[in-house]
Amino acid sequence: MTLLSRFLAWFMAPFRDEPVRRKRVARTSAAPAQPEESGPAYSAPWERGLNAPSLEVREVRRHVLDELHRMEVEARSFDDRALLRRLQGVVAMENLGLPPFPGTVVELKRMLSRGVEVPSARLANVIEKDHALVEEVLRQARGPNWSKGPESLHAAVTRIGNDALWRISMRFALEATVFFVPGYQDRVEQIRVHSLVAAEVVAWMLGDAEERGGAWLAGLLHDVGKLIVLKEAGGLGAPVSEELLEEIMDRTHASIGFLVANAWEFEELECGAIATHHGGNRRSGPEARLGFYLHLADIAAHGVEARHARKSSPARSVLVREAKAMGFDGDQALTIADRAYTRLKALRAA
Ligand SMILES: [Fe+2]
Ligand SMILES: [Fe+2]
Repeated sequence: MTLLSRFLAWFMAPFRDEPVRRKRVARTSAAPAQPEESGPAYSAPWERGLNAPSLEVREVRRHVLDELHRMEVEARSFDDRALLRRLQGVVAMENLGLPPFPGTVVELKRMLSRGVEVPSARLANVIEKDHALVEEVLRQARGPNWSKGPESLHAAVTRIGNDALWRISMRFALEATVFFVPGYQDRVEQIRVHSLVAAEVVAWMLGDAEERGGAWLAGLLHDVGKLIVLKEAGGLGAPVSEELLEEIMDRTHASIGFLVANAWEFEELECGAIATHHGGNRRSGPEARLGFYLHLADIAAHGVEARHARKSSPARSVLVREAKAMGFDGDQALTIADRAYTRLKALRAA
């Protein structure tokens, strides 16, 4: 087993045995009212994060570099300045220092996008090019719902189904390029769970047409910019101020996420939605529309995090009000988020 596949196995561990199909909840059925938690306040991160200033890569890169430079000039400690310089170095690179999105997954993404059915044998031919992905698909197909393992990779692909394969491969690719971050691993785990919850919610909001479309993927990646910041902070090997870290993430993560999605050559829709997932600064067009749904899914994910932490949060009231304007039930979105969150936490604890 290579170092990379061992690392991947570790990184995927919290998601093992995840049911291959999410349960759909009728968008129109009445959901039980979800009370707001009382207790210490949970901050509202969806209000603090800033959208990218545009959907032009050069402009966004320039904006992030200017922001980081401004913060560097104002930073008080040597280590804080060192982090800001590291980040400027990373953002200046076209690929942000990340490995390319795995070719196998790009091929699967193209074959599986937008709900088109593809024969399992063709999918198996693509998957078998990547040994670590083969292991993951076989492992998923040996879940507790079956009495014996699949006889072949082809059989495994048929067994788990195209929707599950799409999710496994996208998640796999993201996790292959994201990292163990010394000193910040708990935060990384939190962001992973948060992102998967938001992905489930936004895919539900947009219905069947988006099952394997940009919505779920944009949800999965919406806060990837924060992971880049944490990666550089962890790589510094020295403590940086918590206040500065939060400020960097709030001001730049949507922009950095947009640059990451572009570096990985994702579709404009996915890139644009990541850039605009903090609401407020609404633009016209499909990217902004998906970005706004993502904003609502983000609130739902934060809402369940607050509830499970027994903190008071305005998430539910904000979500219910905003969701109503978009024609769906905010409490239902919270129910979807809660199920996803509870399942992921249970898997992590197992
Ligand atoms: Fe965000
Ligand atoms: Fe988020």
